[in-house]
Amino acid sequence: MTIPYPTQPSPMAFPAVRPPSGAPRPRLAFLGTGYLGATYAICFAELGYEVLGFDVDEVKIAKLAAGQVPFHEAGLDELLRANLASGRLRFTTSYAEVADFADVHFICVGTPQRADGMGADLTYVETSVSNLAKHLSRRALIVGKSTVPVGTAEWVEQLVAKHTDPALEVEVAWSPEFLQEGFAVEDVLRPNRIVVGVKTDWANGMLYAAHKGVFDLAATEDREVPLVVTDFATAELVKVAANAFLATKISFINAMAEVCEVAGGDVTQLSKAIGYDPRIGNRFLQAGVGFGGGCLPKDIRAFQARAQELGAGEALRFLHEVDLVNQRRRTRVIQLATELLGRLPGPAGPDLAGTRVAVLGAAFKPNSDDVRDSPSLAIAATLAKAGADVRVYDPQGMANARLAMPALHYEESMSAAVTGADLVCVLTEWAEFRNADPVTLGELAGARRVIDGRNCLDATLWARAGWEYRGMGRPNPSV
Ligand code: UDX
Repeated sequence: MTIPYPTQPSPMAFPAVRPPSGAPRPRLAFLGTGYLGATYAICFAELGYEVLGFDVDEVKIAKLAAGQVPFHEAGLDELLRANLASGRLRFTTSYAEVADFADVHFICVGTPQRADGMGADLTYVETSVSNLAKHLSRRALIVGKSTVPVGTAEWVEQLVAKHTDPALEVEVAWSPEFLQEGFAVEDVLRPNRIVVGVKTDWANGMLYAAHKGVFDLAATEDREVPLVVTDFATAELVKVAANAFLATKISFINAMAEVCEVAGGDVTQLSKAIGYDPRIGNRFLQAGVGFGGGCLPKDIRAFQARAQELGAGEALRFLHEVDLVNQRRRTRVIQLATELLGRLPGPAGPDLAGTRVAVLGAAFKPNSDDVRDSPSLAIAATLAKAGADVRVYDPQGMANARLAMPALHYEESMSAAVTGADLVCVLTEWAEFRNADPVTLGELAGARRVIDGRNCLDATLWARAGWEYRGMGRPNPSV
């Protein structure tokens, strides 16, 4: 049986609410202009809303106000400049200005992993909500977007009650985001769903008005955007459940890669074959060095920590295995490198002294400059710790990689990194690496050995060009 998605909401289904500012459409503020908040602020201005972006970081705000996006995201620079020029988009570091301007305040601050455990650090949520609430002088809606442990929305409501006059009737709602780096503009303008956790008709109506631009765009393109209106807890859980599912899917195929490695199978064909079943689907089924980034790893850990606190730790125990499978893929690259370089594993790890290794890729995935919890960079660091002379190159992630791991040696091009290398490791599947000519690279390398950490190279082509090739969960093509 197919369960139908809800259809695009009809405006009739929502209470008509008037923005407290008196403006015809709600004015929107996005607090926290990191990856999430900046992208949302820019895209909602593009949809026609009047928008104010806020951050405590003056340097970031100055950059955005001058038309520079502080991170790499396709298409965002042009949209930022166009919407600054239109006058619909502004940036500030003043809570008072935000409180005075907006009807709907989206909280988009970071919720990193706590330094002392697996849970999420909610300091930034607390600071932004408390400071905003103190400055409010009329009714407003505060909407959480950051990924948080279930129960946070209720706590935010208490914070708001503590810092505002009850006569103002300031309300709270929760609306998770599902942005993928590299596709973030599309994900905001054309989301595959909108989820809102609300307690009142007023909050529901206000959030509908704040998203009407998204529904209107969809209508002009003959699309529908499903809307799920639910309670606080479900809205908060939707986000972590989605990320836990994606992480599990990736670790599932990586576990299959482990089995293929000992059984002599090829996980790329296995993945293709099971992915044809529409109940399984072929997306997020690429075996390789595993998942990284600012979301999946920290979200599955915070989810487990929260479930444990709530007495449902057992329900998410499998996520610990998901994490372990993911970490083991990084170790697998070190094993393969040791083997290919003819070294012995050794009780204290391999000794790779005297070898030179090119690491192609530093970002956690292609089309991003984000190196947070990047498998590529973690593997590069382990290889260097084992004594190898590691040369790292990434098309976009070099500046962030240098900041995160200053001790590594960076090269300005793929050719420079590969020149003289005894081993080449392709760890992020940038098009530049996927399309590289193995014959040309073979002439530069000291020895033709390659580890394809993302199964993104044509193994036969590389083997034909004289490379000793090793993929992840794939048989050795020369055998
Ligand atoms: C993720 C979610 O996809 C997004 O919905 C959420 O809002 C934030 O977290 P993102 O962190 O941008 O987005 O990365 P994503 O595209 O999900 O990839 C995560 C990691 O998984 C990357 O390191 C990627 O290389 C890896 N991956 C992805 C695989 O190893 N195999 C796959 O098949 C897919």
